[in-house]
Amino acid sequence: MCGIVAGVAQRNIVPSLLEGLKRLEYRGYDSCGVAVLQRGEARRVRTLSRVCTLEADARAIDLDGATGIAHTRWATHGMPVIDNAHPIFSGELIAVVHNGIIENHEQLRQSLRAKGYVFTSQTDTEVIAHLVHEHYCGDILTAVHNATRMLQGAYAIAVMCRDEPGRVIGARQGSPLVVGIGKEGVFLASDTFALAGSAERFIYLEEGDLVDIEGKDVKILDKEGQAVTRREIAFVRHASDAELGAYRHFMQKEIFEQPVAVARTIASVTGRETHQAGMPKPEELAEVTNVVMLGCGTSHYAALTACGWFEHFANVAARAEISSEYRYRDYVSPGNTLVVAVSQSGETADTLAALRYTQSMGEQRTLAICNVAASAMVRQCRWSFITEAGPEVGVASTKAFTTQLVALFMLAIQMGKQRGHVSESEAESYMRQLTALPDAMRNVLAREPEIMAWAEALYQSDHALFLGRGTHYPIALEGALKLKEISYIHAEGYPAGELKHGPLALVTDAMPVIVTAPNDALLHKLKSNMEEVRARGGRLFVLADSDTGLTVESGMRLIHMPAWFGALSPVLHVVALQLLAYHVACLRGTDIDKPRNLAKSVTVE
Ligand code: G6P
Repeated sequence: MCGIVAGVAQRNIVPSLLEGLKRLEYRGYDSCGVAVLQRGEARRVRTLSRVCTLEADARAIDLDGATGIAHTRWATHGMPVIDNAHPIFSGELIAVVHNGIIENHEQLRQSLRAKGYVFTSQTDTEVIAHLVHEHYCGDILTAVHNATRMLQGAYAIAVMCRDEPGRVIGARQGSPLVVGIGKEGVFLASDTFALAGSAERFIYLEEGDLVDIEGKDVKILDKEGQAVTRREIAFVRHASDAELGAYRHFMQKEIFEQPVAVARTIASVTGRETHQAGMPKPEELAEVTNVVMLGCGTSHYAALTACGWFEHFANVAARAEISSEYRYRDYVSPGNTLVVAVSQSGETADTLAALRYTQSMGEQRTLAICNVAASAMVRQCRWSFITEAGPEVGVASTKAFTTQLVALFMLAIQMGKQRGHVSESEAESYMRQLTALPDAMRNVLAREPEIMAWAEALYQSDHALFLGRGTHYPIALEGALKLKEISYIHAEGYPAGELKHGPLALVTDAMPVIVTAPNDALLHKLKSNMEEVRARGGRLFVLADSDTGLTVESGMRLIHMPAWFGALSPVLHVVALQLLAYHVACLRGTDIDKPRNLAKSVTVE
């Protein structure tokens, strides 16, 4: 989704802005642009191509200035064409980059047109640029303050004015914006990752904040225009987070990082130095009788997997709700609800809105399970559990998913203990199992060559069906999602028992059917479902625990997973399905880390 980098440097800022845009590429975009103040004018380049093309274009026109704003755009209002790419100008005076959606743009456009403003793009952003222009009387901060007061909707913006070199104004409402302070300048960006190369200290702006960057000075105002102080955070980032190293793609790197990420998440609760200060105390959850989990995409599937754990270990009713649907449903609370927002980024607009909706209905027990400690969701919730996946760059989520699963599992066990459904010794045994999880994941990763052979057999298919049962049904959904996201093969996940109620009609020898088969209580039922496929000439690809006793039969390929890993088995099977999607996509030659039309951090509805 859209990304912002802007700032004021002590030298030419263009290289820093472009480096920042490159770091934001993972969010997904369809155009990009950069503008700087140079010799008394605002100069810009924009392209529908990649940031490396923008870099060449900027070099070709000698773009050079100390004050600048830059953007990657993911089209919402208006097609991905050059005129709609940011920075958007109002005359030659004002330049704006914007993330989010202005809901009253139509109305503002009409009134600005009536005042003589001519619109050259279809974007809602142009409304902001002209509004700032209209309010400008020699002080860009005042102009932005007055203009933003007229905006409804969500925005993070960075604005500069031709007549005020050395100054950039930022504002946020509903979309993230962070100030980064470095040796060579002061910057603004949509996330800290963008500034990993330029800043060492960060300030997260709050809802409604305005920031005035003038030279090296940073002044923050709240929505009433009062000067405020926001906490500054020193940031240590490991170079390896942003680099591919020996891997071909970030997705591959992140799949292989999972044992370490999962171990970190476990240690954040059980290790000597725990950093989960925001977690609820066991007694605070004593009265909870039901859990509602909100999420989108992969995070929703983590929640769906965890439903089985909450029911089994804690004997509480649990629901996983798709945020974009839930936020518009009538609210029915059985009371004593724990609302859990599950999100990698902590900024997904629908999940944030669904969470706020539950709060507006009186829910007070809210917990964010997020990978970004300073995110809006963490700030919005009473409690938080920060997953320790580290920055996830690939648009298709992998290590964020498995660390979410670990967090949800630990929460379910803790609630089970608190409610007397899990004994002390059982809890200890589950924790031992958790500790063994990273090694078991390594074992699955070692099956990569076998998975690559499956990919060879699958990559020319047009469709694929994924089957699972129980807590492995969401894993089938996630396997199908991974495949469609990055390989563009049409894939569907089904609970295997539903096969005969529809999808069986699709089964022919042209339909690969991928089955996740743990050695659990439902195995014999699953075997019957597999027979239903085989009897119709379907091509079975079965991931089976080594102790299932399953052997290769005609019309079937088999990969033996480690022996059944109990309740945590979904965490192992999903790793194999991630690798499968990855290798199929490699064979199809798709843009794996930036799949078409998709974005990493979906900050608009
Ligand atoms: C986008 C990403 C997915 C992610 C989903 C939810 O669609 O491409 O990978 O699962 O958003 O994001 P969140 O940050 O809330 O987990």
